[in-house]
Amino acid sequence: MIPLQQFYEEIKDCRKCRLCESRTHVVFGEGNPNAEIMFIGEAPGENEDLQNRPFVGAAGKLLTDLLGSIGLKREDVYIANVIKCRPPENRNPQTDEIDACLPYLWKQIEMIKPRVVCTLGNFAAQALLDKKVSITKVRGQHFQVRNFLVFPILHPAAVLHQGNLRPALSEDFQNLKKFLAKGIQPASQPEQMGFF
Ligand code: URA
Repeated sequence: MIPLQQFYEEIKDCRKCRLCESRTHVVFGEGNPNAEIMFIGEAPGENEDLQNRPFVGAAGKLLTDLLGSIGLKREDVYIANVIKCRPPENRNPQTDEIDACLPYLWKQIEMIKPRVVCTLGNFAAQALLDKKVSITKVRGQHFQVRNFLVFPILHPAAVLHQGNLRPALSEDFQNLKKFLAKGIQPASQPEQMGFF
């Protein structure tokens, strides 16, 4: 068994927070275990909870299309979420739920060793940068965190609620493509960011 699969076996019955009462599955994540780039969303929704796969609903279809628009397939990258269990009625994750779950994501990142972690939306940017950032301020910039770069962009689900954000999301993916093509550039440290 590959180490990531073994790790999934260890946490698939997790009961560290209240979300274990209402979830169907611990949605671990999926993709290339040696991916250079990871995409991190917020939390599983209903489809993800039922199918035990991240980003398989409407936002997932949009993410798959946007990956395609920059020449990436889902199998090339690794896709996961800040928290692994669906919050009831898709409410926002609570701080104690994020605190309980985030060590799992950090361990996945340590195992996959990506060059770039692309965060989708506010929750993922704040979790990875460990700061109360606003996604509209930090999107398209990159930040050194540990031994990888965080590249925050909008969440595809935002476009499903606010259609006028679609050009901005497409622009984020085009910027990501350019960023990946350029290779690693000197990055801002999170503590130097001015963004509140
Ligand atoms: N939104 C997320 O943040 N993650 C998913 O897996 C699906 C929708």
